[in-house]
Amino acid sequence: MVGKVSIRRLTDRGEFAGLIDIQRAVWKHPDLDLTPVHQFCISTFMGGLVLGAFVDEELAGFVYSFPAIYNGKFCHHSHLLAVLPQFQGYGLGKKLKWAQRREVLKMGLDLVTWTYDPMQSRNANLNFHTLGVICRRYLPDFYGETPQLKLGPGIPTDRLLVEWPIKSARVQKKAEEKEEKTIDLGFLPKALEGYGAEDGSYHPGPVNLKLAAPVFLAETIRDVKSLQARPELIGKWQAALREVLTHYFGRGYAVIDFIFGERCYYLLKKMPAGKMKK
Ligand SMILES: CC(C)(COP(=O)(O)OP(=O)(O)OC[C@H]1O[C@@H](n2cnc3c(N)ncnc32)[C@H](O)[C@@H]1OP(=O)(O)O)[C@@H](O)C(=O)NCCC(=O)NCCS
Repeated sequence: MVGKVSIRRLTDRGEFAGLIDIQRAVWKHPDLDLTPVHQFCISTFMGGLVLGAFVDEELAGFVYSFPAIYNGKFCHHSHLLAVLPQFQGYGLGKKLKWAQRREVLKMGLDLVTWTYDPMQSRNANLNFHTLGVICRRYLPDFYGETPQLKLGPGIPTDRLLVEWPIKSARVQKKAEEKEEKTIDLGFLPKALEGYGAEDGSYHPGPVNLKLAAPVFLAETIRDVKSLQARPELIGKWQAALREVLTHYFGRGYAVIDFIFGERCYYLLKKMPAGKMKK
């Protein structure tokens, strides 16, 4: 991508109008499901934050968050992150999130939360591996019957609620893109693993809810879009992952990383009791 990239705060009604076009282009939702200009106006007036990413002064993406309380703690909840399709994959999404972190730190807060669909592996990679969030909360069918948010007919709108502890040493290291130790994960036990069927499709195997290892993996599909014609298979993967994550979150585990490769895995770790305070 050629062009000068800059990130800056948006505060003006006129500029918010551009966010509508980006939502339309990125999500293709009907107007009823778009976040309107008046919402951006009032929430930025009341402590919310909209950051725009510009390429040569053209608005190419944005991130939006607002003040929230989670588990009795003040934080920012990040509700929208979008980069226009033609600008995706060039680092703008990352730049927006790191700028969001800087701005929220300046407000004196140390936590940013957001939700995302656990079947979206690219987003999981961004959230866990690149930014350093953790997750210990599964929200089954969170948005209910909103067809635009479903992965296919009859598939519930499950979400993971992720926590980004923006002051932590781990997130600071991620921000500096410090080289991480790579470890061979092949030996780790798996609570969920796929298998290839005769017709070439890839199915979730039986879930293992008996693991007591401190660290283990749960496989998920790499590219949910490629399964659009097989909603029943998406549903099977979603149900299996939901069962595993809900079960182990209830036993003090958290997702702390995501491995994106030919095969994709959530990495779960048993958290020390003190760290699990809600
Ligand atoms: C999600 C989104 C905002 C990311 O913006 P982007 O500018 O395309 O992303 P970046 O180029 O900054 O990449 C950021 C990270 O995303 C992940 N990522 C991006 N492209 C990827 C790919 N093809 N495969 C796997 N991971 C990928 C990586 O973790 C990457 O970090 P890295 O470069 O250090 O590996 C953008 O793709 C988008 O608008 N998607 C549609 C809307 C959406 O899903 N919003 C987020 C909901 S949580």
